[in-house]
Amino acid sequence: MRICLITAAPDHPLLAATTALLTPRHHVVSLDPEADGAPSAGPPGGAEPADVYLLKSRTTRALALAAALERRGAPVLNSAAATALCQDRVAMAELARRAGLPFAATTAVATLTDLAEAGAPAGPLVIKSRHSRRHDLVARVDSAAELRKLADAWPQEPVVVQEFTANSGWDHKLWAIDGRLFAGLRRSELAPDGRGPTLPLPVGDLPAEWTAAVLRVGETFGLDVYGVDLLDSGGGTPLIVDINAFPGIRGQAGAPEALAELTLRAAAGTAVRRTGLHGSRGPALPVRSYQHPGWVRKSS
Ligand SMILES: Nc1ncnc2c1ncn2[C@@H]1O[C@H](COP(=O)(O)OP(=O)(O)OP(=O)(O)O)[C@@H](O)[C@H]1O
Ligand SMILES: [Mg+2]
Repeated sequence: MRICLITAAPDHPLLAATTALLTPRHHVVSLDPEADGAPSAGPPGGAEPADVYLLKSRTTRALALAAALERRGAPVLNSAAATALCQDRVAMAELARRAGLPFAATTAVATLTDLAEAGAPAGPLVIKSRHSRRHDLVARVDSAAELRKLADAWPQEPVVVQEFTANSGWDHKLWAIDGRLFAGLRRSELAPDGRGPTLPLPVGDLPAEWTAAVLRVGETFGLDVYGVDLLDSGGGTPLIVDINAFPGIRGQAGAPEALAELTLRAAAGTAVRRTGLHGSRGPALPVRSYQHPGWVRKSS
């Protein structure tokens, strides 16, 4: 099989280990969509596309390339539409909640300045950039003064707002590859000590409600390789705060094997691909506009 990694980092541990498993019998190449001269619509000169593409990049150019390859009939893991959906925290929350997933209630605000001008928060909030990207904004805000300071630093940033949900301080990081689950525990970046190493978390120790929710994320979003961040919001009730397309899944025994198997099945056309409730093989969901958040208490 001819396998192409769409990534700027083919040496990423998961990709490198998967490539090592595949290369004795298969041909693996990588394509950096950001490189000068990278094709934006598939192989140049009418060459045949690869048998499968792994989309481990979320840049605009990577998504455009993946969408063009899909139009030419090439399988792409995950699809461009499903990957793009996870970049928009409004679309993500809307689809998750529409599907009945336990996703944090999320409100969109046009800019952080608008939010600060609306008054003081009624309780601790988590404010995140609407568009998930490297070095985006994720911050806890406890007071009007903190909100104003954040707005001064990010005045024009489109954001989403969630209530800060009291939790154990630990993220339950779950990952899925073609329905196979992996898990780890990591301190929340909003906890007082910040992030730390990922600790082992046997999937079998998790309540069935948690693993079922994570599997349903894949079906709902049309994702084959993804990560879900869950918090224990009290009494073992799971709350999803984040969904990522093609995360790193570092240090998880069996993950490269699962990815290699999925890759070959997708290349052979025998993988059961998730289509998603948004129709991930078609146009992305329209994003509805939101009311101004009701939880803001007017300061005057
Ligand atoms: N509503 C919330 N209540 C409490 N803690 C939250 C909430 N939302 C997020 N967090 C904490 O903040 C961390 C970062 O948030 P999130 O996962 O949404 O962003 P991120 O990982 O930076 O996003 P991305 O991976 O898309 O760049 C979470 O792992 C979680 O610990
Ligand atoms: Mg996260």
